[in-house]
Amino acid sequence: MKHEVIEKNSILLLVLTLLVVSIGGLVQIAPLFWVDSTIEKVKGMRPYSPLELAGRDIYVREGCYTCHSQMIRTLRDEVERYGHYSLAAESMYDRPFQWGSKRTGPDLARVGGKYSDQWQVEHLINPRAVVPESIMPGYPWLAKTPLDVNTIASKLKTQQTLGVPYSDEMIQKAKDDLVAQTKPDTKEAKAVLARYPKAKVANFDGDDRSVTELDAMVAYLQMLGTLVDFASFDASGPNLR
Ligand code: HEC
Repeated sequence: MKHEVIEKNSILLLVLTLLVVSIGGLVQIAPLFWVDSTIEKVKGMRPYSPLELAGRDIYVREGCYTCHSQMIRTLRDEVERYGHYSLAAESMYDRPFQWGSKRTGPDLARVGGKYSDQWQVEHLINPRAVVPESIMPGYPWLAKTPLDVNTIASKLKTQQTLGVPYSDEMIQKAKDDLVAQTKPDTKEAKAVLARYPKAKVANFDGDDRSVTELDAMVAYLQMLGTLVDFASFDASGPNLR
């Protein structure tokens, strides 16, 4: 009968409903204030190289995320199809993150190294050239548009302000590093690898006259999911401490 009092008084019902609902919210949110980090420690994660970062910006600009997610869920079918489920650490330098929930095309979180640069180039220019049944649009202008290399240092600087651990040296060398990543077997390319381990150095678009947006896009796609050393990662153990 006491319940009748609540049911007949909408304000009281509202207040009590809010109270009950907020308990659930607190139980979920409050512990996050006491754990040191919700991001597991893993070996191998590093900030994007300048060329990869430029490619990522083009990925966002072209709206690739409207059809592609970058988060492999912890479900068996996902793991069997795409590889190890995504870790929080893998997107800790992503601002904004690209997890997504729309999958017209496959998840791209681990697409790095799955195809050759040449395949990626042909696929981006005209997807039907390599996947006849594809419904993905082509992005032929990427091959013809020179990459704007003059803004890259300020992009790194902005990321640094947001907490991405770019050193001042990385910012200073950003433009040189960006170009050097497209010039295999040079002294400058070695410097890129020293600053950004595991970065892929290649003449991505097959045209060495200039650095194009296509170079940046392929460099970005080829690094996706390749950084974390899963041989040393133990989801149940010491990495979490
Ligand atoms: C309209 C939806 C759509 C958009 C927008 C789109 N894609 Fe796709 N993408 C697809 C579909 C569908 C496939 C699967 C067929 C194929 O391989 O072409 C695919 C496949 C891919 C693959 C191969 C993945 C694999 O594992 O085989 C890559 C890489 C890719 N897309 C990159 C991109 C990039 C980069 C962009 C933005 C420049 C983009 N896509 C924009 C729909 C889209």
